[in-house]
Amino acid sequence: MAGVNSTGSVTMQVSEAVASRRSVRGFLPDPIDGAVIRRVLDRAARAPSGGNVQPWHVDVVAGEPLAALKAIMLRRVQEAPGGEPTEYDIYPKVLPDRHKTYRFEVGEDLYGTLGIPRDNKLGRLLWFARNFQFFGAPVALFTSIDRAMGPPQWSDLGMYLQTVMLLLREEGLDSCAQECWAVYPDTVRTFLDLPPERMLFCGMAIGIADAADPANAVRTRRAPVDAFTTFRGI
Ligand SMILES: Cc1cc2nc3c(=O)[nH]c(=O)nc-3n(C[C@H](O)[C@H](O)[C@H](O)COP(=O)(O)O)c2cc1C
Repeated sequence: MAGVNSTGSVTMQVSEAVASRRSVRGFLPDPIDGAVIRRVLDRAARAPSGGNVQPWHVDVVAGEPLAALKAIMLRRVQEAPGGEPTEYDIYPKVLPDRHKTYRFEVGEDLYGTLGIPRDNKLGRLLWFARNFQFFGAPVALFTSIDRAMGPPQWSDLGMYLQTVMLLLREEGLDSCAQECWAVYPDTVRTFLDLPPERMLFCGMAIGIADAADPANAVRTRRAPVDAFTTFRGI
């Protein structure tokens, strides 16, 4: 069903939203209407979840509070460059080979585009720290989940997040999911006043992509369907 989104463009098909969603790592400072964010988060709650338990919790941060968080993080990243004790492993201790290769490739593609070679560890670290300024995005969100929830509910949370990112595309907006925030769980918990029973999963930067930012020139690769699917009877 075509319509007109908040930026005046004709809305897109699901396949266009899927194809055009990418992790944007450089945003224009243009503010985003809070009503649009509210609409996206509300609509995304149509995402399925096992038993309809809807395990997602969301905190949206923009304006003054976002400026305050960015200021805290400027200091925090310098004070504790290695981060804080984490509450979950972002990656398994040993990534299976195929997946390790994908991870390596995406890093090389990104830093290659930015012209920061592998041996420039400090350059890569400094660039990575832009995560903690949300790559200049005017809106941020964080998702958290009750500690009682297990892998199936974490998967539900992922479905909610992807639905958010696709609906943002329909609104003419871009995003970058950010697990890096799990490296500073105490700072985020204190800032958001998260209750102790809740665990932070990730952050997300939201806004309009800055087409001039070289980081946004990267188009990540994907393995073809036959690399991860076994077809039987079809
Ligand atoms: C849950 C999740 C967490 C992520 N965390 C980060 C992050 O902390 N920083 C970052 O720059 N990208 C992050 N990404 C983006 C991934 O690197 C990106 O999705 C992947 O390389 C595929 O690229 P694409 O999103 O452009 O298609 C994250 C993605 C997901 C789904």
